[in-house]
Amino acid sequence: MIRINKNESPIPALNPEILTDIITKAEFNFYPDEEYDAFINAYANYYQLSPTQVSAANGSDEWIQKCMIALPEGPVLTLNPDFFMYTAYANQINRPIHYVDAEDDYTFSLSKIKKEINRLKPAFFIMSVPHNPSGIQYSKAFLDEIGDLMKAVGGYFIIDEAYLDFGDAYQIEHQDHIIQIRTLSKAFAIAGLRVGMVISTEKTIQQLNRIAHPYPLNTLTLNIATALFSDKQLVNQLLQRQRALCEKLRNIFEKNVSDIIHVIPSKTNFVLTYGDYANDLGQYINDHGFLPRFYNEENMKQTVRYSIATESQLDELEQIVLEWRKEYDLSKSKSN
Ligand SMILES: Cc1ncc(COP(=O)(O)O)c(C=O)c1O
Repeated sequence: MIRINKNESPIPALNPEILTDIITKAEFNFYPDEEYDAFINAYANYYQLSPTQVSAANGSDEWIQKCMIALPEGPVLTLNPDFFMYTAYANQINRPIHYVDAEDDYTFSLSKIKKEINRLKPAFFIMSVPHNPSGIQYSKAFLDEIGDLMKAVGGYFIIDEAYLDFGDAYQIEHQDHIIQIRTLSKAFAIAGLRVGMVISTEKTIQQLNRIAHPYPLNTLTLNIATALFSDKQLVNQLLQRQRALCEKLRNIFEKNVSDIIHVIPSKTNFVLTYGDYANDLGQYINDHGFLPRFYNEENMKQTVRYSIATESQLDELEQIVLEWRKEYDLSKSKSN
């Protein structure tokens, strides 16, 4: 089964020669203090940030959990649907969690979000940008309005930018109440090594790190991540290859089925489809060797999400979609 249900990278970040070199040189007998600093410097330098504004942990999942634990008490507000771990981590520590529901087309109304923020005055509002599972990227103006309102009600705005490297870059002003969470699991292709980043002001980073572990990441992970971010050309090539796969994936669904199934224009490495025939196509694809993401939640029952695969796997996927389409057209012509 080819896994296209977790928005992973289908291609590795580094080739075996570079990896062998990193493993050979790694000093596993020492605690990784210098390795941590080297990575933070390389990452901050890549994004032209100060190292004091950046911190790393075991996947961005861990930053979501740290926000739940280390930010002031009070309810959290998020979107429905959004990344399911927001709910899981809020539940772990019994932090009340509230939702703003999507419209029928899986977009969100800014005025509804603002109304709910004003009513609830949450300790923080968290959403993914670009949004998982719809793939939509909301504008900088949209984010600024939420950020300003969260400041006015005395809460934080957490922007989970797991997929931003596939979308449109923006510059958000660094303020104490704005927290950006990023991951190296998607565009940077090292999900298995578990690297998540947080970006904010030094003051907020310190607040989140009140519950930090002494050595948050291991030597090997840190050295691999440092090698990646120290080589701009390598990173750019990796991003370009993945973006090309994103476009290929989108085209498969837009070209072949968007007249009968809703295909949401995506700024990510996945595509969300919905409508009466979405599950039928998803099941057909599942029966032919690819595992897409199905949902049990009531508001997601007619949706299926697909993430990128390698070039040849996507060619294979397109053939499957075309076969399904042929069968669909035949059944329609018979019933007419
Ligand atoms: C929106 C969003 N945030 C965070 C994560 C978790 O990423 P990580 O592998 O860094 O824990 C995911 C993973 O799918 C995600 O979709």
